[in-house]
Amino acid sequence: MRNSKEMRLTRQRSLTLRSHSSGQGKDQLGLFEAARPKIINVASVPQRSPFRYPGGKTWLIPYVRQWLNACESWGKELIEPFAGGGIVSLTAVAEGRVGEALMVELDEEVAAVWQTILSGDAQWLARRILSFSMTQANVKSLLESTPSNTREKAFAVLLRNRVSHGGILANGAGLLRRGENGKGLLSRWYPKTLHNRIVGIQNYRDRLRFLQCDGSKVLQENARRSDAVFFIDPPYTVAGRRLYRYSEVNHPHLFRIAATLQGAFLMTYDNADEIKRLAMEHEFQLATIPMKGTHHTEKTELVISKDLSWLKTM
Ligand SMILES: C[S@@+](CC[C@H](N)C(=O)[O-])C[C@H]1O[C@@H](n2cnc3c(N)ncnc32)[C@H](O)[C@@H]1O
Repeated sequence: MRNSKEMRLTRQRSLTLRSHSSGQGKDQLGLFEAARPKIINVASVPQRSPFRYPGGKTWLIPYVRQWLNACESWGKELIEPFAGGGIVSLTAVAEGRVGEALMVELDEEVAAVWQTILSGDAQWLARRILSFSMTQANVKSLLESTPSNTREKAFAVLLRNRVSHGGILANGAGLLRRGENGKGLLSRWYPKTLHNRIVGIQNYRDRLRFLQCDGSKVLQENARRSDAVFFIDPPYTVAGRRLYRYSEVNHPHLFRIAATLQGAFLMTYDNADEIKRLAMEHEFQLATIPMKGTHHTEKTELVISKDLSWLKTM
């Protein structure tokens, strides 16, 4: 006897397929719902990234774990073509869920951080964070200077990530004034925690690779690999421009590449009609997952894959 969650999921899958094949409009798009429409408590997920990343997927980690189990990812390579703060790659490797991970990111500032952490300069960066004297004047002077090398740039990027509104690194992002509890610039600066995260990554650094380039290109190059799995988290279609320096992604092209991937993939997106239509066109499955946005507003995001049956085990 199937339980009610399973039955609901099966019904929703058939809805998806039926509305696709009959070519109905957006109002009739069938969607899975997460079998457990419960908002993940982010505090329950180990935070391993040195970034506070806008659009970061720490909240999705319990789902990612389940997906990786379902696609038997042990020993495979996880490819993350839009890595950002990299929480998915870091978690998958640290927890031994994949053999190794390739993180890809176009933004040269974000890249400087990963290049430094994955090179011999991680200890330098961790110590630089501990020794920085956080005052308004020091922040201003550091952010106005031009870094002379990659590791100095990495430090400036992490500093800016901590003192800007929402961790936004895109040009023009404002700095925190009041911050949490009126603590201003200090409110997101936890030097010891940041130090420990960077040092922690050193334990599995040899299983992480980083490339600064176009994520779609890397996907295409690895499309025929059956020993790789892909976590695809492109910039949001709507808010991307405000959040990231690089936000223009050709979404229809990305979906066409996803359709050619031999290995399993999981995509996440904002809940936008354009994306739902693309998923339907390619006969991918899609589900909505609830999450808490900034200011604790509840919203839903889309997860898309060729097979979402693992959702019913959540
Ligand atoms: C939604 S964020 C990824 C967040 C990440 N999953 C996390 O948990 O921190 C999307 C990222 O894609 C990057 N990006 C934008 N265009 C890109 C491209 N063509 N190739 C690689 N990365 C790109 C942005 O700079 C941004 O960091």
